[in-house]
Amino acid sequence: MTVLHVVGARPNFMKAAPVYRALANEGVAQVLVHTGQHYDALMSDVFFKTLQIPEPDESLNVGSGSHAQQTASIMARFEPVVLARKPAIVLVYGDVNSTVAAALVCSKLGIRVGHVEAGLRSSDRTMPEEINRLITDQLSDLLFTPSADGDENLRREGISDKKVFLVGNVMIDTLVQFLPQADSLFPGLKAKLSLDSFGLVTLHRPSNVDEEAVFLPMLKVLDELSRELPLVFPVHPRTRDRWAAQLKACNPNLRAIDPLGYLEFLALQKHAKVVVTDSGGIQEETTFLGTPCLTLRENTERPITMTRGTNVLIGRDWDMLRHEFRKALDGQRKHADPIPLWDGHASERIAKILLQRKFLDV
Ligand code: UD1
Repeated sequence: MTVLHVVGARPNFMKAAPVYRALANEGVAQVLVHTGQHYDALMSDVFFKTLQIPEPDESLNVGSGSHAQQTASIMARFEPVVLARKPAIVLVYGDVNSTVAAALVCSKLGIRVGHVEAGLRSSDRTMPEEINRLITDQLSDLLFTPSADGDENLRREGISDKKVFLVGNVMIDTLVQFLPQADSLFPGLKAKLSLDSFGLVTLHRPSNVDEEAVFLPMLKVLDELSRELPLVFPVHPRTRDRWAAQLKACNPNLRAIDPLGYLEFLALQKHAKVVVTDSGGIQEETTFLGTPCLTLRENTERPITMTRGTNVLIGRDWDMLRHEFRKALDGQRKHADPIPLWDGHASERIAKILLQRKFLDV
């Protein structure tokens, strides 16, 4: 009996890699399906290589589209694959469209689903990811949570405790594994980008980058702040496609570059004076690394990064952004406490639970 993993978008790859490895170490037969939600080499291929993920056994090549088109296309192409492969369980990761699409297909076919990174909630249903989280968790048979707030959210939604396992953060497994390699790359990267002291920026949420009235004022403040501290801004294709000209018009200290590979980005996160982002995963990685993180969102599905970590929610309060940015420059870092089970071993705990459940023959 096999475990089938479904991945599709950039943030899935660093979550699936350590779980795949932990199961391989236990001798479990596995199948990897890539939906093709992300398809650019810089958004997908480089992560497979760096994270040593094997080539996908099946590529669904769905590409981009509206949410309905993309989700439907993944479902239609995934159904015959899962029927042919007959896995004992399908593992889905995070909160992207590939996650919910695969969970829906499996639940209708009576195939068990395990959700890795279950239970996170922003309570903001205007975020497509929040809908994906709610549906995926309702449909899953095993829910692997990264932190105790996830367990509480699931309990509140009526999900039985018996299905929920607090295992820790699989993305931190990958970080712990690759940090030494990333660190060794840093001097070369610093020279290549001619950097001394710098901050790091990422922005890709539709709520931030789709509308002119939102994105342009944000860019203006970043342009202003980059005169105080050079900012490296690896630009997601969604943001690049919409705002190439406006990014080019910024002062040269705001360095809009192509998306970076995992190691390069990790090295920059570790050594940045401050990170400004709207990503979910980066809030967690910066907390683990102790780097100040200023999140340009009104809410977060990862509140533990605020209560125990370095994350500050800025929303669209530009005075607050300026204030917190300057605090970070002055070295006034928010203290980060270690978070239980963010220790590099979450994937091993998942593998152990799957094996104990005895639906895998090894
Ligand atoms: C998706 C996830 C988001 C995650 C993000 C990480 C959903 C609902 N959203 O958002 O949670 O944080 O990935 O990157 O699943 N594009 C390319 N090349 C690619 C992929 C995308 O050019 O390889 C462009 C296309 O114009 C596409 C747009 O980016 O339409 C958006 O891609 P999509 O996968 O729909 O959503 P993301 O914004 O990447």
